[in-house]
Amino acid sequence: MIEPFAAVEVIAAKRDRNELSNEMIDWIVSAYTRGVVADEQMSALLMAILLNGMNTREISRWTNAMINSGERMNWSALDRPTTDKHSTGGVGDKITLPLAPLVAACGGAVPQLSGRGLGHTGGTLDKLESIPGWRAELTNEEMLNVLKSCGAVICAASAGLAPADKKLYALRDVTATVEAIPLIASSIMSKKIAEGTSVLILDVKTGNGAFMSDPARAGELARAMVALGTEAGVKTRALVTAMDVPLGLTVGNALEVRESVEVLAGGGPDDVRELTILLAREMLSAANIHEKDPADALKDGSAMDHWRRMISAQGGNPDAPLPTAKETHQVRALSSGTMTTMHALKVGVASWRLGAGRSRQGEKVQAGAGIEIHAKPGDLVNKGDLLFTLHTDEGARFERALESLEGAVGIVQGGVADRLPLVIERIEP
Ligand code: URA
Repeated sequence: MIEPFAAVEVIAAKRDRNELSNEMIDWIVSAYTRGVVADEQMSALLMAILLNGMNTREISRWTNAMINSGERMNWSALDRPTTDKHSTGGVGDKITLPLAPLVAACGGAVPQLSGRGLGHTGGTLDKLESIPGWRAELTNEEMLNVLKSCGAVICAASAGLAPADKKLYALRDVTATVEAIPLIASSIMSKKIAEGTSVLILDVKTGNGAFMSDPARAGELARAMVALGTEAGVKTRALVTAMDVPLGLTVGNALEVRESVEVLAGGGPDDVRELTILLAREMLSAANIHEKDPADALKDGSAMDHWRRMISAQGGNPDAPLPTAKETHQVRALSSGTMTTMHALKVGVASWRLGAGRSRQGEKVQAGAGIEIHAKPGDLVNKGDLLFTLHTDEGARFERALESLEGAVGIVQGGVADRLPLVIERIEP
């Protein structure tokens, strides 16, 4: 095949702050996926994009080129609308676990393609894999069957879905080009559009524990993604939500499953329950489904019933005891007062160092590792009160985790909680 461009022409165009033509974008994404463009050439282009940006047309074309690199899923065999949510990731963000069966219990179909954690943020699949027997890898046919019988499925994306993104994401990770808004927006939206959902609610996290620590940049990313989804015919809305403090009272795989089950049983921490209900209402109203209010489905047991069916359909035993770590270590307050802050990133890194996350793709995570949180900003604590319980299978990991927790909590006599509101902004087209 005669290639219509040379990679250097495309790199030079973006280096010189020119717009890339549609033809250039289609070609470079396809040629990179086919192995015709080398990693060093794509690295240079990604850095030029990070530095010089892309306009709306370029982002949209780049996203389409990534979608066209693989298969598109189709849910027309279902008798109810598909509605999904995507979070940009954070510390203790287990919302997908209670949310998918909750929305199913209220009449939606939720085809959740999820990922694994990398770095300090956890991954939904790692969390669910702590349930004995549960399987993340499903064929498209199995996925459809679980969706039909349970109303929700949470599984890994197949290798055929947006393969360009798989290659590009791995390259961005090692070339300091993850942070570019055009690249994040196209990466997330190419997968979600290829997944074939009719409705998508984006939970864009902001604060020190999120990708986009600055709320204004998070809003910019949210607007770019809402525009991409809308243009592709997906009803897309976004909430910019707080990730300056961990969500809930647990961070780590099995610990977060336990807390999700508490939410499904009608309890759980206020912030996790509130955000779960809020996102469920957004997913249902955008899909024009008004059968039942999500708060009622948590109270009457129907969300729990859908959870149990969904876990069983993927080989898991919802009644099996969850794995626990071999060793624990308690962290206590050094002074008395009001807890004013809890630094999500520091807590996330500590949990990661305890073995809950991985530092290289493919590494095994510890199911039982992580952190239980015993007090949150706004709570009064006395010197000696328990703040955190650390869990790991390898006691040698405590030291590095404790280093990360240094300065993670602020305690001030007569102080007040200094944290972002749970929802900072709501964006619709
Ligand atoms: N999640 C993705 O899938 N892609 C990004 O670029 C960032 C977060």
